[in-house]
Amino acid sequence: MKFFVDTADVAEIKDIAATGLLDGVTTNPSLILKSGRPMLETIKEICSIVPGPVSAETVSTDYKTMLEEGRKLAKLAKNVTVKVPLTPDGLKTCKALREEGTMVNVTLCFSAGQALLAAKAGASFISPFVGRIDDQGHDGMELIHEIMTIYTQYPHFKTEVLVASVRHTQHVIQAAKMGAHVATVPPNIIRQLFKHVLTDNGLKAFLDDWAKTGQSIL
Ligand code: G3P
Repeated sequence: MKFFVDTADVAEIKDIAATGLLDGVTTNPSLILKSGRPMLETIKEICSIVPGPVSAETVSTDYKTMLEEGRKLAKLAKNVTVKVPLTPDGLKTCKALREEGTMVNVTLCFSAGQALLAAKAGASFISPFVGRIDDQGHDGMELIHEIMTIYTQYPHFKTEVLVASVRHTQHVIQAAKMGAHVATVPPNIIRQLFKHVLTDNGLKAFLDDWAKTGQSIL
């Protein structure tokens, strides 16, 4: 499974990229606002740090303007993935950009029907927001299962399921168990994936015992 980090904070992206385990980045208008920086320069900088797909979201709702925005974003760097909302105009924009060879991430997906339409529109990625579905008292991971079941029936579908709106490590584990292609994960949750108290305790015990040997490797 590919790991993307869900942030526009360049310092956080650099820190996670240093693990050597980062495959891409997703941003959205709220994450750009949170970064406090101009969007275009931030996306260009992120694309220079992470060679994988970097999602940059359009901010209009009509096809003509979304297409114009998407083309401008795509020119920022070759690894820009234009993000469009799951609306009729968004999917029309997706189809047009894909025909031009631009990667497209269709975002704000909340149903299997929407995901089916996105695959038909040739989306590179579909972003079901599992955390926001959970927030409503439903099972966001059930949507991932539905989408994976549908996509598996049609081998010609090339759309990758990008699990988004991840709230905790169990979302990542469950997504992996279902064979989701990508999870986009907030930096703090990626860090939590590394942590286990028994690892910390076991390492301390090993190093304490090693110290008692009085030996060194170097
Ligand atoms: O960036 C897309 C998605 O991961 C954002 O989800 O619910 O944390 O705003 P959320």
